[in-house]
Amino acid sequence: MSNEIQSVLTESRVFQPFSNLVEGAAISGMPAYQALCERAEHDPDGFWKDLANDNLVWNTPFTQVLDETNPPFYRWFADGELNVSANCLDKHLGTPTADKTAIIFEADDGSVTRVTYKELHAKVCQLANGLTSLGYSAGDRAIIYLPMSIEAVVAMQACARLGIIHSVVFGGFSSKSLHERTVDVGASLVITADAQMRGGKTLALKPAVDEALSLGGCEAVRNVIVYNRANSKVDWVEGRDRWLHDVCLNQPGTCEPVAVNAEHPLFILYTSGSTGKPKGVQHSSAGYLLWALMTIKWTFDAKPTDVFWCTADVGWVTGHTYITYGPLAAGLTQVIFEGVPTYPDAGRFWKMIQDHKVTIFYTAPTAIRSLTKAAETTPQIHPRQYNLDTLRIIGSVGEPINPEAWMWYYTNVGRERCPVIDTWWQTETGGHMITPLPGATPLKPGSCSLPLPGITAAIVDEVGEDVPHGKGGFLVVKRPWPAMIRTIWGDPERFKTSYFPAELKGYYLAGDGAQRDDDAYFWIMGRIDDVLNVSGHRLGTMEVESALVAHPLVAEAAVVGRPDATTGEAIVAFVVLNQSLPDDEQGRKIATDLRNWVAHEIGPIAKPKEIRFGENLPKTRSGKIMRRLLRVVAQGQEVTQDVSTLENPAILDQLSQSF
Ligand code: WT7
Repeated sequence: MSNEIQSVLTESRVFQPFSNLVEGAAISGMPAYQALCERAEHDPDGFWKDLANDNLVWNTPFTQVLDETNPPFYRWFADGELNVSANCLDKHLGTPTADKTAIIFEADDGSVTRVTYKELHAKVCQLANGLTSLGYSAGDRAIIYLPMSIEAVVAMQACARLGIIHSVVFGGFSSKSLHERTVDVGASLVITADAQMRGGKTLALKPAVDEALSLGGCEAVRNVIVYNRANSKVDWVEGRDRWLHDVCLNQPGTCEPVAVNAEHPLFILYTSGSTGKPKGVQHSSAGYLLWALMTIKWTFDAKPTDVFWCTADVGWVTGHTYITYGPLAAGLTQVIFEGVPTYPDAGRFWKMIQDHKVTIFYTAPTAIRSLTKAAETTPQIHPRQYNLDTLRIIGSVGEPINPEAWMWYYTNVGRERCPVIDTWWQTETGGHMITPLPGATPLKPGSCSLPLPGITAAIVDEVGEDVPHGKGGFLVVKRPWPAMIRTIWGDPERFKTSYFPAELKGYYLAGDGAQRDDDAYFWIMGRIDDVLNVSGHRLGTMEVESALVAHPLVAEAAVVGRPDATTGEAIVAFVVLNQSLPDDEQGRKIATDLRNWVAHEIGPIAKPKEIRFGENLPKTRSGKIMRRLLRVVAQGQEVTQDVSTLENPAILDQLSQSF
């Protein structure tokens, strides 16, 4: 870790904001940024109150900004009432935005569908009416397990319109993961599709729902609504299953939005922690939406003429905030893409930017790194082959972007005239926290730069004291902010201990290590806990370990991450089998079985890249697995540390061969 810290802080390149972007920006120039920060610091109540009044449409205005009588269970605008869907759709009716394209949907096969705001509003209302006719109402929970589609946005917005709390499960998660979430959230409704189309393939979705619901504990699910995406043959449970088009048939295209309390949960989204099962991160209605909209305006400096494209899946928080809620609340035209960046070839993103005249592009470092590799080997799909002149801002999210990837993105995609906006945030923060502003912040490749106004990010030691610039520590947020996680669904105790440990003075603990440089810029160093970040996806080592030990052949497993040039981190699993050490051929076969098993237990994103077998794991004499040592072994480095406390030093040799 210390080497890494050295290398980033020797980065000396600085890119000043482009004058064409400074002019007319929502936050124009550093003095404007600093003025907002100062206002937020000296008059936080006034700062947040004005933002909430100026940017949200309220049914009942709030009188109190922040209620902090029961920390860390903060409440924002808590006596106000509004409807999130009305703030994303109805707000635009009767304005020129009503007839503007809201969504340009490009399917896997390249066909394009457009909907205007007016049309989107009608679709959302029809589904909301259909859900009402099935007896659903505010406070019910719905699992959404859909491919990237206009329908996914419609489903989420229809829930929001009625105050139904949605929990979207990424289509790449297994039936087991789906089951776990359905039970935990107590869902009474599932909205899914027959299948999804990705990379030219039709991948079934409905069977995973059928399997999940058959596992028990999901008896509350009364209906499964199925979007017919691919005309696949599906099993059907009479009385439970309904086609989406039937639910919407003959429903009126208007539906009164249900005003909910500002603190009413808008959604629950599961994410991995260092221990235990995935946590259901609960977000509010008003505070969350306010920040989704403010960050679209500030971070992306969005204008009515922009064509916005966030490549994330709606199954992750990025897709919630920067597809379903933020861009619609801002009245933008946005692109939604069903497929994968490498189909029919790895020029797909660049071609889509060209075809749809995208002006703001937001993607993940892992995508940039894999497309770099592809472009360097296949010149025909290099971004320089495409007309990317419409781009004005290019963003990054999900993991640290290394300076090389940053420079490639800046040079080849941004053509040295678009700022790379490296946004640091988390499922729990609801929206961007630390990020450059296109019209204000000088950029340094690899740094997410400075906190947004109102966000009191800091770096502290184990007792919550600020550490000096240049020194590493825990990334915390000192004061509450409106879009913060409200609790872990069903587990307020875990919420407290995970995010507000007693030693840290009540600060929000992000779980990342970081440091600031002499200009106070933040450099994120990666997680401080047993959470891995593989291709921008968060996974707990313990989740993968539990999946592995559930396999009949596995006696014991330990999982660590190691740096990977494309995926950021890669999973290395150390496995002790219930049988003698396998030979090469057997080892390869068992490794394949175990990978498929993990894919079935969690999802393909959790498949270990490497599996290593040993007769035992390196343990201290008291029986504790020495993970630090495993991380060294996983990186193929020589073990230089003292292994005298190790019960069985010979084991390290066995564990060096990977399958
Ligand atoms: C973790 C959160 C943010 C939405 C997508 C991921 C890492 C995220 C950055 C960035 C360095 C980053 C952190 C964070 N991370 N963005 N720009 N630079 N690290 O959300 O799944 O909740 O993961 O992703 O480690 O804690 P998530």
